Amino acid sequence: MKLSGKKILITGASSGIGAATAVLAAAQGGEMILQARSRDKLDQVADRIASAGGTGHVYPVDAADNAAVESAAAKIKTEVGVPDVIINCAGAGRWLFADETSGEEARQMMDAPYFAAFFTTRAFLPEMIARKSGHIININSAACFFAFPGATGYISARWALRGFNDALREDLHTTGVKVSMVAPGKVATPYFETNEGAEDRIPGIVDMFYPTLTSEQVARTIVKTIRSRKKTVVPPLLMSATVALNPFMPGVIRWLMRKTGAKR
Ligand SMILES: NC(=O)c1ccc[n+]([C@@H]2O[C@H](COP(=O)([O-])OP(=O)(O)OC[C@H]3O[C@@H](n4cnc5c(N)ncnc54)[C@H](OP(=O)(O)O)[C@@H]3O)[C@@H](O)[C@H]2O)c1
Repeated sequence: MKLSGKKILITGASSGIGAATAVLAAAQGGEMILQARSRDKLDQVADRIASAGGTGHVYPVDAADNAAVESAAAKIKTEVGVPDVIINCAGAGRWLFADETSGEEARQMMDAPYFAAFFTTRAFLPEMIARKSGHIININSAACFFAFPGATGYISARWALRGFNDALREDLHTTGVKVSMVAPGKVATPYFETNEGAEDRIPGIVDMFYPTLTSEQVARTIVKTIRSRKKTVVPPLLMSATVALNPFMPGVIRWLMRKTGAKR
């Protein structure tokens, strides 16, 4: 799919991976619809896009609030049109042991990415299905393929997002609407400042063997996925190989994660 003239909605567009993807996709001709809660940060991304000659429409919303998502979607449909591509990139969550996690925080971790992706996608699905075209790209984490100590709410929410991604693909398999998941390893973004303590609990094996990606590298992968419509993409390459090997040697990988993972 060419990006030129395509309407591309991206949640989590105010920071990190989402912001970098919005800027790159706009530079390649995409008409961007930018969502997150922070209007000021979205305006800054829209300004960067505009100063490079692109278009970025700002629709601030809490993507975990279904009524707010529906009302923003109604405005977007009237003012911009139905997106050709939705990139679900809103996400947050501290890395905590289950017993350290309050009930409220456990729920919040499901809010974004899982409910945010569900609500944002469903708000536009009827039109995409009627039109027989569209592409949903869920930005997940490589944690959706593994389990390790000290990030129980985070990992659960990423497994939920993977479940949504895979089930949605089956829902839509006769409709012409495609579903992809991009699930990177560690990426240098403001995530680790916003979600305090998360970086310290990444299993040591990650920093030992897998290069930390930049937001721009992941943005390139996401934009490539808009074109390729590949089902699952796990950057970097070595992480992809580990995900492929995991079903054949789950004990070894679990041992490495435990050995180098967060300790009580
Ligand atoms: N950084 C990594 O190492 C890494 C690796 C793999 C996967 N990921 C995943 O990629 C996603 C994006 O992460 P990032 O690293 O780019 O983090 P980030 O820089 O903290 O960006 C997170 C984005 O999500 C938005 N957001 C959070 N809650 C929201 C809500 N309820 N409604 C709307 N927007 C919301 C934030 O905007 P507002 O606060 O303005 O709402 C922000 O734009 C996350 O799900 C993360 O788990 C990150």
